[in-house]
Amino acid sequence: MKKRILTGDRPTGQLHLGHYVGSLKNRISLQKEHEQFVMIADAQALTDNYDHPEKVRKNILEVMLDYLAVGIDPAKTTFFIQSQIPQLFELTFYFLNMVTYNRLKHNPTVKTEMQQKGLEDNVTAGFMIYPVSQAADITLFSGELVPVGADQVPILEQTNEIVRRFNTIYKTDVLKEATPMFSNCPRLMGPDGKSKMSKSLGNALTLDATQSQIEEIVKKMYTDPDHLKVSDPGKVEGNVVFAYLDAFDPDLTRVQDLKAHYQRGGLGDMTIKRHLMQVLETFIAPIRDRRNQLKENPQQALDILHEGTKNALRVGMKKMEEIKEAMHIHYPFGVPS
Ligand code: TRP
Repeated sequence: MKKRILTGDRPTGQLHLGHYVGSLKNRISLQKEHEQFVMIADAQALTDNYDHPEKVRKNILEVMLDYLAVGIDPAKTTFFIQSQIPQLFELTFYFLNMVTYNRLKHNPTVKTEMQQKGLEDNVTAGFMIYPVSQAADITLFSGELVPVGADQVPILEQTNEIVRRFNTIYKTDVLKEATPMFSNCPRLMGPDGKSKMSKSLGNALTLDATQSQIEEIVKKMYTDPDHLKVSDPGKVEGNVVFAYLDAFDPDLTRVQDLKAHYQRGGLGDMTIKRHLMQVLETFIAPIRDRRNQLKENPQQALDILHEGTKNALRVGMKKMEEIKEAMHIHYPFGVPS
């Protein structure tokens, strides 16, 4: 059965290979069987970038170019801008009554992000409640499947708690619980083998990375520190080069052979790195070309986004009416009758 998919990204920078493996790839295949909505979460991005609205504004186009370049298809997927759907904010306000302040404070995703961003002492209310706003994103668009990274699981759990509480209190089934969907590839580690790939850590390969950028990052990749001589047996686990080959080399047998050879000894780090450079260049080149081409005439991408946003607004308005009916606060004549 066709299901509705709702997912999105914060427009704080270009998307990179980590996003590709973690969610974009999934969206490309999911759009074939399901009805997909992809939201550019500019309002959510403002919760920790409210002092840099220009950055958020500029990256709406960048993210849209990334979507189109990797092959998310506007004929199958509706793209829209979060801030242009007022019903999302309306619903967030009602949802805030469905969750305790204490529960919000203990959301593991928010806690980790607060630490990473050094927000602990003066975190804003807007940032604290972003999981509630995300629950509104998902439910206003009746998202049943939500392709996200593993770090978003606590947010989905909180969404479903809100859904259950809402449906119980208002004796309705207007809201549906959502199921997270993970990519079959584990999270892409950063080149150092520890952190994840991230723009702020300066270790990201964007989807328009040039050949020399690819080479520079691959050169720095962590392999096996005990693999000193080419003839030494090497370790594959925790070896970043093999993690990336697993994610991007379409020739699985070749990867198996390379791993076996490396473990036996006789395969040098530079040889596997050169192979990976080529695999990544082959993967990125067509995406990079398409992205550069789209960027030359950005109006085309913006028009797609505009159309999608109009479509999403229609869907959101209709759903909000149903939700308000369930809450007995629907006043079709502007006043309660
Ligand atoms: N929080 C998500 C991220 O940082 C972006 C997002 C906002 C989202 N609203 C969503 C993802 C709704 C899935 C569903 O990547």
